[in-house]
Amino acid sequence: MSYNTILFEIEGSVAVIRFNRPKALNAINPEVVAEVNDALEKIESNPSVRVLILTGEGEKAFVAGADIAFMANLSPLAARKFSRDGQDLLFRLEELPIPVIACVNGFALGGGTEIALACDFVYASENAKFGQPEINLGIIPGFGGTQRLARLVGKGMAKEMIMTGAMISAEEAKRIGLVNKVFSPEKLWEETMKTANLLTTKGKVSLKAAKNCIDRGYDVDLRSGCYVESDTFGLCMTSSDGKEGMTAFLEKRKPDFKGELI
Ligand code: CAA
Repeated sequence: MSYNTILFEIEGSVAVIRFNRPKALNAINPEVVAEVNDALEKIESNPSVRVLILTGEGEKAFVAGADIAFMANLSPLAARKFSRDGQDLLFRLEELPIPVIACVNGFALGGGTEIALACDFVYASENAKFGQPEINLGIIPGFGGTQRLARLVGKGMAKEMIMTGAMISAEEAKRIGLVNKVFSPEKLWEETMKTANLLTTKGKVSLKAAKNCIDRGYDVDLRSGCYVESDTFGLCMTSSDGKEGMTAFLEKRKPDFKGELI
């Protein structure tokens, strides 16, 4: 599949998806959803990919939301389908067995904030803006924003953002826990790649296990989450990485993680 709305590349073991509709500030339409799905399929079937970065092409936007021109005349059923397709895509992204970093280089509004929420963590440039402005269009977030935002930043903060539709700065997004780190626009990519490269040196199985425990445990009670952790902790010993990591420590050398099962 060749892509019209995204750029997709694999640099070493780091995959990069760039939303690429700069004239519409990288807004999401069904073609974007289909193309990102296709890229995720390629990543899922390529064991050499260890990290995924999502970013926006151009200097102005990460993603300025769902495509309003596309949505303007949708029937209720078609709008429901668009919302479900977007949600399914973001579940797929969230459940990818490798770390996913959102590198937010400008506007991340509506669906853009929702994409960032489905990533494992968010790095943003000082000029990035976040928000759920759907209320200003007479609608509500449709790609999981009412759910993930409240879980991440708390109900009160999520309600204020969703009900006022106001944009917040990258620093404010960091203060409320939506963004991990803020960099100058010049440094954002370099710092994101630095972390991505660091993650490629970690055990593939243990990264997947940690991600799975945090995500699966988040929505259940503490004891059930801890049971998931114990089961997964045991399963880590079925990979060569657990043996390698601990042996390397005892032998006072750097581990060489291969991510293989034993
Ligand atoms: N959909 C479609 N086109 C969009 C768009 C969007 N979400 N956001 C921007 N564009 C287009 C503009 O229409 C404009 O196109 P033209 O040049 O053809 O007129 C172009 O991108 C540049 O945008 P602006 O001229 O508006 O740029 P600006 O710097 O003045 O403003 C902005 C930037 C504040 C981000 C403004 O574009 C804006 O408010 N965009 C809409 C943001 C929004 O409401 N997002 C939520 C969408 S709904 C959603 O996402 C629902 C969901 O959860 C699924």
